[in-house]
This record gives sequence, structure tokens and C-alpha cells, in this order.
Amino acid sequence: MSNNEALRPPEFPPPPCADLDWNGLDFSVRNVNGHIESHYTVASGRWTEPKLVKNRMLNVDGLAVGLHYGQQVFEGMKAYRAPSGQINIFRVESHASRLNHSCETVSIPPPPYEHFYQCVCLAVAENAVYVPPHDANACLYIRPLIFGSGPQINNLPSLEYTFCVFVHPIPSLYGLAPLDAVILEHFDRAAPMGTGSAKVGGNYAPIFKWQQEAKSKGFGLLLHLDSKTRTAIDEFSTSSFVGVKNSDGATTLISPDSASVMKGVTSKSVFTLAEHFGWNFEIRPVRYEELEDFDEVMACGTAAGVASIKTITCLGDNRKFQYEKGRKDDYKCRERMASALQSIQRGLVPDDFEWC
Ligand code: COI
Repeated sequence: MSNNEALRPPEFPPPPCADLDWNGLDFSVRNVNGHIESHYTVASGRWTEPKLVKNRMLNVDGLAVGLHYGQQVFEGMKAYRAPSGQINIFRVESHASRLNHSCETVSIPPPPYEHFYQCVCLAVAENAVYVPPHDANACLYIRPLIFGSGPQINNLPSLEYTFCVFVHPIPSLYGLAPLDAVILEHFDRAAPMGTGSAKVGGNYAPIFKWQQEAKSKGFGLLLHLDSKTRTAIDEFSTSSFVGVKNSDGATTLISPDSASVMKGVTSKSVFTLAEHFGWNFEIRPVRYEELEDFDEVMACGTAAGVASIKTITCLGDNRKFQYEKGRKDDYKCRERMASALQSIQRGLVPDDFEWC
């Protein structure tokens, strides 16, 4: 049997493994069947055939450009199990195009779509027993990663690249309880005209310590303002900002138009569903002051799902925006949206938008 035949997905996925407590999952790292690897050299201009590596360990040169200069990009995607047992991977194409944008930002040769698709499908197929049962509040998280793996002292793009696809079963990032968010006032996530729209590690690590500080003060999430004027909303540190306004029977979803935010695949899907529900959506600059006018706020992201925001606090000017407002229909839009999206991802309704 050739390596390719060995890696070909089975006709029908095996059931979830029996030794995991699917509704009690946490974020601790566990072993799965392995990850997929493919390699690229500038000299060959080609990605190698994907290979299953049966552990998480990488054989990395200590002078790899990815380690020293941050030449790396990643993605976050999800796979769910439908009631039939079939596995749905959500919006591979949209994630591939965002990955390509991230690659271009840090001078990594983007993998062709077919190659990306093949690597992602193989990673899921080889780990199909780790796709949770269809009724568990969990999914298989898919983490594609590409980094400059060639050695270099000079600060030039790598001449070699490693593409990996890791997978891991996870619960929902924030659970079901509405979140208290706080505005990060003393640090900018991304410079104007900088790397904010790319999914690169450099947009995440500098936030860790602020996230931990916020957590110690009781906040679950950070919200970033635009770094040029500090008068507009950019995004949450893990997800897109989507505000909801209800007036005269019309519902409008509003999300910031900013060159410094990541193009959210979840928020894009939310806007498509909003249109389908007969709601309006606007992608435009959102002023800080406008936080007062929203009836609901959601944090939309792959890991976050469609999470509800209870409050947003700005410690500097001592303001707290509340989104509960004591109404009986609290989180009505969010709940409808989260349920519609999950029903598609979990194969409970027809996939009319061809997302899976
Ligand atoms: C994702 O939602 O996929 C992300 O990469 C965010 C990360 C903080 C888990």
C-alpha cells in the first residue's frame, strides 16, 4: 500500500472513542492519533505529500526563522459529527483564504487550496475517533500552522517551510455564561496599517499578560480600540465584535470595519444568517460612544462560537456598558444566531450555504 493509500479517508468515519468524557472536556492537552506534516523548499517550489506523524513532536532547526523572527501563521477551524455519524468541517475555503492573507503578510509561500484541503481532511480523518458525539457540547478543533523552518541568522525569509495540521477535541471556549469584557487601554494589539488582519502569533502573545491581569480583575475578555485614534472599536482579543440594535421591529447587526481586525469566518457566517433571517447588517466604523446604543453584543470566533457579552467596562473613564438591561428577551438574537449556526455545523438542518 502506498503512503497515499494509507492516508486515504475511510468510507465512513469510525464512532467517537469510548474512553473520553465528552461532556466534561477541558482545555488540557491530550494525545490524539497524530498530526499531518508537509514541507516546502523555495528551491523546489513544491509542497511534499502530506504525511501522518504519530505524535505532536516536530524536528525543528534551532535557527529556524519561524522561531527567531516570528515568520509563522496559523488558523483555527472546527469539525463536528452529524447525527448520521458523518463529519462536517466548517468553511475550509474561507479559512484557507485567510491563511493565504496571513502568509502574504509574513512572506510565507501560501499553500495551494487543494493541498490545504487535503492536509486538513487527512488530519481529521486520521483522528475521526476524536470528533465528539453529535450531541456533546464539544468539537474537534483544527489548528493548521505554517512556519519558516529553514535556518538563518540574517533577517530574511526562510528558504524552507513546515506546514502542520494539528487537531484536538475541545469544549466551547467560553461556556454558556454571558461574559464581562474590559477595554485594553494601555497597550495596542496592532499598529495602524500593521499586521492586525493576519492570524500570526505576534498578535496573540503580547496580549497574554493583559488577559491574565483582566482575568484577575474578574473580566473574561479584552476589547481592543483602534490604535490610531482610540475612538473606535476594533475587536475582542479572541473574536470579532458584533453589536445588535433593535428598533421599530428591525434588527441590525453591526461590526467594525477596520484594517486592523481579522476577517472573522464566524462573523461572516453570522452576517449571511442575519440576511437569511431578514435582519440587516452593517460593516462600518463603530465609535466607542456607540457601545451605549447596542441592545446585545456578541463575540464571534471559531473557538468562541457566538458568545454573549453581558458588560463592557472602560476602567479609564469609569464606564460600564450593560447589555442585559433587565429585558425578558435578553440575548434573543444571540441565541437564535448561535443555534442556527450550530445546527448547520452539526448537520441538524440542510447545509443550504454549502459551508460544510
Ligand atoms: C480561534 O478562535 O480559532 C482562535 O485561534 C482564537 C484562539 C484564542 C483560540
